[in-house]
Amino acid sequence: MTRELDAALSAAKEAGEVLRKGFSAEHTITYKGEVDLVTEVDEEAERVIREELLGTFPSHGMLAEEGGELAGEKDVRWIVDPLDGTTNYAHRLPIFCVSVALERSDEVVLGVVHDPMHEETFVAERGRGATLNGLPIKVSDTDELIRALIATGFPYDRAEMPEALELFGRFAATTRGMRRLGSAALDLCYVASGRIDGYYERGIWPWDLAAGSVILEEAGGKLTDYRGGVLDLEGREIVASNGRLHPSIIRLMEDDDRCGG
Ligand code: IPD
Ligand code: CA
Ligand code: CA
Repeated sequence: MTRELDAALSAAKEAGEVLRKGFSAEHTITYKGEVDLVTEVDEEAERVIREELLGTFPSHGMLAEEGGELAGEKDVRWIVDPLDGTTNYAHRLPIFCVSVALERSDEVVLGVVHDPMHEETFVAERGRGATLNGLPIKVSDTDELIRALIATGFPYDRAEMPEALELFGRFAATTRGMRRLGSAALDLCYVASGRIDGYYERGIWPWDLAAGSVILEEAGGKLTDYRGGVLDLEGREIVASNGRLHPSIIRLMEDDDRCGG
């Protein structure tokens, strides 16, 4: 195990303890938008991660959801979501996680997604495969949409809702079932471990995707934008799948006006 992975694991688990311990408490909710909320626990979990990672690697940069960008060495930065699934958390729905990734020269090389309520830790280092609690994971081999369980998310920006619902309707009519779990990082890890077969969402951020993206790729999955092009972490959209389903998913998206249909 590299020093970086060791530090990422320890930071994610320590932050996970903060989340687990605070789970049943009343939370102070602050609004970032009409429905986009943040609790005091998001901030505390992020502080714990920042101290651990930047304490161990003082020259590294960090992009974290609550604290924004901290400059460091030019091409090495941590990308952190201290609590992915904060709306679930605020409602005491136990579907959330800590997401920690390391990016070098614009490539995510390491990802840890830790779910403290279910004691599940997804890990990948580029080129070394993906694991769940230390055991190798891989994507499903589902190759037909009618046999596929697909997850998505809905945008915080309500102006984008009609388009998201139109696409959702199309998927709901074509797949075995649709899920809205409320944690993008877990959506990606669940595709990686074959629990679900695909996931798409618009309006997401690099910290939602970074760790899950390397975990999914190392588990044999595929990630692109809505048109099937190269994934840009800053591009605010993602299509993720087991690989086999990718062409069918992109074809279904292409019926959408905004996606070039
Ligand atoms: C959100 C979750 C949600 C997704 C949103 C994200 P947060 O992250 O991942 O599933 O639909 O796009 O912003 O706000 O809970 O960290
Ligand atoms: Ca998030
Ligand atoms: Ca968050």
